[in-house]
Amino acid sequence: MKVIEGWWMMKTTVSFLKSKYSREETLKKIDKLDCDYLHVDVMDGKFVENFNFHPEDLPEILKDVTKELDVHLMVEDPTPYIEAIKDMNVKYITTHIELQEKHKYIDMIHSLGIGAGLAINPDTDVKRLYPYLDDIQYIIVMGVVPGKGGQKLIPENVLKIIKLQEMKKDKNLDFEICIDGGVNLETRELVEPADVIVLGSALCMSDNYKETFNKLR
Ligand code: DX5
Ligand code: ZN
Repeated sequence: MKVIEGWWMMKTTVSFLKSKYSREETLKKIDKLDCDYLHVDVMDGKFVENFNFHPEDLPEILKDVTKELDVHLMVEDPTPYIEAIKDMNVKYITTHIELQEKHKYIDMIHSLGIGAGLAINPDTDVKRLYPYLDDIQYIIVMGVVPGKGGQKLIPENVLKIIKLQEMKKDKNLDFEICIDGGVNLETRELVEPADVIVLGSALCMSDNYKETFNKLR
């Protein structure tokens, strides 16, 4: 949350995974918005069915982006991706709690001076995150099964956000909690407990990004 003109405003991170425009055009349009981060979804065709980027593609694709990067790695082997973006304007790199290794990537990301995040799938128990809460700066609660944009929010996942907000308060921690997937004008109010919302197809499939962004934020 942040305050703009006396109003509490949700932080926003925009995903360009599903858009009605070309990737270049979409990135240019997003860069003009007053969003906090650019949400970069990376899929390897193994951890999730779909594939979009090789590690070496990322610096070229993101070279003109001025927003801080919120990189969501839906991949089985994060190391080459972390290496490929380590010198870019990265706020968070997030790997999935469902991977075998956790601390290996959290430590690698921290050694680069970047914030580390953990993402959790809809069918994963929120308790799996508890051992790592002291070590991470960001949590991505998936509102959909990862791997594509435009899916319907699975509302039960909001309960995980409420639980994590309680844990954050009780343990006096300051990680940001993000909801990813299925956020649109209908579900916007439901995801209010989050600190950050991913705006994906609801924004990038619209005709007027600025107008839609202001309605959704
Ligand atoms: C899905 C991605 C999300 C997705 C969100 O696996 O992690 O970031 O792009 O898109 P919408 O908002 O369309 O569900
Ligand atoms: Zn994502």
